Amino acid sequence: MRTTVGIVGAGPAGLLLARLLHVAGIDSVVLESRDRAYVEHRQRAGILEQGTVDVLRAAGAGERMDREGLRHDGIELRFARRRHRVDFPALTGGRSVMVYAQTEVCKDLIALQLAEGGPLLFETEALAVEDALTDRPRVRFRREGVEDVLECDYVVGCDGFWGVARKAVPAELSRVHERTYPFGWLGILADVPPSHDELVYARHERGFALLSMRSPSVSRLYLQVPQGTDAQAWDDEEIWDELARRFETDDDWRLERGPITQKSVTPMRSYVHEPMRHGRVFLAGDAAHIVPPTGAKGLNLAVGDVVTFARALTHQRETGSSELLGAYSETCLRRVWQAERFSYDMTTMLHPAPDATPFDERIQLARLERIASSRAAETDLAEGYTGFAFE
Ligand code: FAD
Ligand code: DHB
Repeated sequence: MRTTVGIVGAGPAGLLLARLLHVAGIDSVVLESRDRAYVEHRQRAGILEQGTVDVLRAAGAGERMDREGLRHDGIELRFARRRHRVDFPALTGGRSVMVYAQTEVCKDLIALQLAEGGPLLFETEALAVEDALTDRPRVRFRREGVEDVLECDYVVGCDGFWGVARKAVPAELSRVHERTYPFGWLGILADVPPSHDELVYARHERGFALLSMRSPSVSRLYLQVPQGTDAQAWDDEEIWDELARRFETDDDWRLERGPITQKSVTPMRSYVHEPMRHGRVFLAGDAAHIVPPTGAKGLNLAVGDVVTFARALTHQRETGSSELLGAYSETCLRRVWQAERFSYDMTTMLHPAPDATPFDERIQLARLERIASSRAAETDLAEGYTGFAFE
C-alpha cells in the first residue's frame, strides 16, 4: 500500500489530521489498532478551546458540535468555602470554550472520513515506523493476522502515549522531560443534571474536586485520590459524600446526586518528548506529550500539533519550501511548553500533596486569593484556559 501521509492512530489527533489533509487535497491512510466502537466510546476529555472549535468548524466538522455543544463563558474557582467566577470573554476580548466530549468529536470525524476521506483502517496495528531519514518512510503493520507495509512520503505518529511511532526517534537523539504526581483522578459519569451551569474547580484540604458535564442531563465529576487507587474500591454513596464535602460552600449551593454509570481512575503525569520530528516522521498529540488533566489541555494540544503539520505540508506543496516542515518540532514545542506550564500551575494550585505542610497550604490559598483579587492574575488564567494561539 502507498500514500502521501501515513497516519498511525485514530484518536482526535489522527482523525483531525486526516480530515485537514483531505480538505487540502492531500491523500492519507489512517491505521488504528482498536475497533470503531472502542474509539468512539473511550471516555476522556470534555472541553474544547476556542481555537479547537474554530478549526473543527473550518474543517466542516462543527455542525453537530454547534447544535449540541455547550458554550461556556467562565469557570468557578471554589476554595475556603467561597466561590469566585472567572469571566472569560470579559478578560480575553471575547474568547470562550465549548463543552463537547472527545467521544463526540471522534464520532463526527470518523463519520466524515468514512463518507468522504481516504482509508481509515480499524483493527490494524502498526508494528514499527521505519526509514525516517529516507524520502520513503514506511509503517509496518498487521491486519487480520497478516503483516504488510504502508509506504509514505511522510508518517505522522498520532498513536498516543503507548504507541510505537516515538521509537522511530533514536534514543541518543531523544530527550524526555517527565514528572509524575502522587495522586490521580477518580472520574465518574452520572445521570443527573449538572448542579451548576459552569465548571467548578474546587480546592479543599481533603483534596481537589471538579464538577463538569457532558450534556444538560449528564454530569461528569472528578475527585483527587491517592496514586494507585482502584476505582471499584469506592462505592457510589462514598463518592457522592466525598464530592459533597469538597464542594461545600457557605451559601445554600447543593450537589445533586444520581445514578453513576461509569467510574475510572486516571493517573497524572507531565511528559514531553523532544524533538517531535525525526526526518520525515512527525509526532503529534499524546505520542509526544502528556499534561495532567487539570485545565483540559490534552486534546487541544493534539489539535494544535496536527494543524501545524497540515499547514506546513500545504505550504511545502504550494511553494516547494520545506521550511515550515523543518520547523515543526520547534513550532509545536513553544505551545506545548506553555500548556505544560499552565497544567502544572493549575494542578499544583488545586491539589494538596499527600506530604503538604501548612506552608504549602497557605501558598495554594494565596495563589487562589491572588486570582480572585487581581485582574492581571485572573486574565492570565483566562488566557491560558481559553487557549494559546496556534502559530
Ligand atoms: P489518543 O486519543 O490516545 O489516540 C491514540 C490512538 O492511537 C488510539 O486510538 C490508539 O488505540 C491508537 N494506537 C495506539 N497504538 C497504536 C498502534 N501501534 N497502531 C495503531 N494504532 C495505535 N484530556 C483532557 O483534556 N481532559 C480529560 O479529562 C482527559 N482525560 C483523560 C483520561 C485518560 C484515561 C487519558 C489516557 C487521557 C485523558 N485526557 C484528557 C487527555 C486527552 O484525552 C488526550 O490528550 C487526547 O486523547 C490525545 O489525543 P491523541 O489523538 O493524541 O491520542
Ligand atoms: C473535563 C476534564 C478536565 O480535565 C477539565 O479540566 C475540565 C473538564 C471533563 O472531562 O469534562
